[in-house]
Parts: sequence; structure tokens; C-alpha cells
Amino acid sequence: NKKGFIFDLDGVIVDTAKYHFLAWQQLAKSLDIEFTEEENEQLKGVSRVRSLEKILAWGNKTISQELFDDLMAKKNEEYLGYIAEMDDREMLPDVPRVLNFLKAHKQPISLGSASKNARTILERINIMSDFDAIVDGNDVTKAKPDPEVFLIAAKELHMSPEDCIVFEDSVAGVTAANTANMISIGIGSKDVLGHAHYVFNDFTEISDDFIKSLIEK
Ligand code: G6P
Ligand code: MG
Repeated sequence: NKKGFIFDLDGVIVDTAKYHFLAWQQLAKSLDIEFTEEENEQLKGVSRVRSLEKILAWGNKTISQELFDDLMAKKNEEYLGYIAEMDDREMLPDVPRVLNFLKAHKQPISLGSASKNARTILERINIMSDFDAIVDGNDVTKAKPDPEVFLIAAKELHMSPEDCIVFEDSVAGVTAANTANMISIGIGSKDVLGHAHYVFNDFTEISDDFIKSLIEK
């Protein structure tokens, strides 16, 4: 039996969600826009461009294309500063165990991330070779909640969407997985990710037996 296992990156494999938050917060502040935790929740899984558009809309601001591009570059510069020091210790608990279990059971594995920095991060934490396919922000034209990123991942794994399982920490990502007709597994709080098929606080709550049951379903 084979299933396609698709992992989001930020907030699922590594705790970079906190770095994105810090960088967006800084940017919002520079524009005199108030930026709350709830709003940040809505930016998770959302592309860089779309995120800035949302922040500007919340703050009722319109800016020139030039300033927009400038802010985009600054945000990424700050974010890259945070991830520059990263190594495999920043992997979230039990992610290596789950990846190893899947590899031991010969399951196809893909990344499905909105980030254009995904390959940089995978290299930093040394898990590039665990993936049979890598689909990231450079490969898609439509951001989550659009299912495009996961549908491309399924295709690259040669699996039908119904046979794919997606690990996601974002509202937009769970919606994307559901829309793609995949099994969605939320990593985070039930209050936020209630629309996922399953929700766990983190991978330590996901047993080998549970994964086995997914493979055999
Ligand atoms: C992930 C994160 C988002 C981020 C997006 C784009 O989905 O959850 O917070 O905005 O990737 O990332 P990038 O590294 O390309 O700015
Ligand atoms: Mg995420």
C-alpha cells in the first residue's frame, strides 16, 4: 500500500512561523498599521505578496508599486536574517521520526509549501534528500487556499489526490488540502484548524500506528 504524504514547511517541519510573524509585525509597525495575532493566523500559508496585500487592506492603506516591492524585499531580508542561523535543531519535535517511518515503509513524500525560501531551509536542516518531490512558492501561480500546490505535489508523486495526506498548520492550507480532495491533518489547535480531518498539537501526538492506519486505508 502506498499513500502520498505531503508536508507543509513553515509551522509543520520547522518553527519558522514565529520568524514570519516577527518580520510582518515589524513591517506593519513601520507603516503604522496595527497587527494582531488573529490577523497573523490568517497570513499563515499565504504567499508573500498576498500577505502584504492583506496587511495593507487591514490598515486601509494604498501604496505605490515601488514601495510595495521595496517592502517585500525588506520583509524577506529580515526573514532571511532569522533563518540564516538555522540548523537541524530547529526541526519540530518528532518530525524526523515520522519522516523515517514513512521512508522505512516506502511511502512517497513531497513538500507542499507556499515559501520561495523552502529549498534554502530544507538544505539548512539537512532533509532535502528525504523528499521525492519538492513543490514550493516558485512552482505555483495560485496561493493557498487554492489547492494548486498540493495537486502539483500529487502529480509529481504519481498519486491521485484522494490517496494523499497533507500535514498543515494553517487555515488556508487545510482548506487547500480539503479542496484538493485529500486527507488533511492539522498541526496546531483544534479551535483554529477545526475544518481538518484530524488535528494534533504536534507530531509527538501522531503515533506510528496512526500513520500505519493511514497507509492501509
Ligand atoms: C509559508 C508561510 C507564510 C509565508 C509564505 C511565503 O506559507 O506560512 O507565512 O508568507 O510561506 O513564504 P516566503 O518564504 O516565500 O516569504
Ligand atoms: Mg505552514
